[in-house]
Amino acid sequence: MSEALVRLTHEFVDVVDGAVARSTETTVFDGLPGRLRLSTPVARVEARTQPVVDAWLDTAVAAAPEPWAALAHALLATSPELDWIVSYEHLASSPVVDAFRPNYSFAALMGPSFRGRNPPFLADGLLAGFSLQAPHVHYPAHHHEPPELYGVMSGDIDWQIGDTWHAKSPGDLAIHRSHESHSMRTTADPVLTWVCWSRGTGSHVYMPSMDPPDNTMAPITY
Ligand SMILES: [Fe+2]
Repeated sequence: MSEALVRLTHEFVDVVDGAVARSTETTVFDGLPGRLRLSTPVARVEARTQPVVDAWLDTAVAAAPEPWAALAHALLATSPELDWIVSYEHLASSPVVDAFRPNYSFAALMGPSFRGRNPPFLADGLLAGFSLQAPHVHYPAHHHEPPELYGVMSGDIDWQIGDTWHAKSPGDLAIHRSHESHSMRTTADPVLTWVCWSRGTGSHVYMPSMDPPDNTMAPITY
């Protein structure tokens, strides 16, 4: 566990503290900052990068304004220690999947073991980390049981929650209630976010446009 990773975690918890304090969704995220502090450092993470990270993380971090720049630069410094994953590995190839999947990546900072690998900090009933979405990429509409809290760190993005599209910029939050559909479309910028699930880390993510209609039993999150 490097000093840089510990610094990243402190920055992350401070940012989530601030977001929860100014959120009106106190019943959904009450207690989240305290639970972030209960995570346990693991000895070694099997780190991976992805082509989308190699292509866009530098650009996204350089564009992050204050006060989010501190967290973004802490992420960049520790990126080689994180396990950046390809989301939705279980979905079959299709034009929609193939346009999205290589152009998005997630790195857990805290959470349970996932696909047999540990994040830097183990925590039960909680998933927290970072996502990177390349420019001109559509993350199709999806939903899941756990409520979700996103914070935009870099880039402007169109964000659909329910039936309404919102323009989001650095510092904006996006809150998804349980099973509320959401979709994110980048334009010219790569978009870097932090993200937390406050419970239900083993839940399935339903993506109606890509999952077969009868695929309701997939056992693992994206
Ligand atoms: Fe989500």
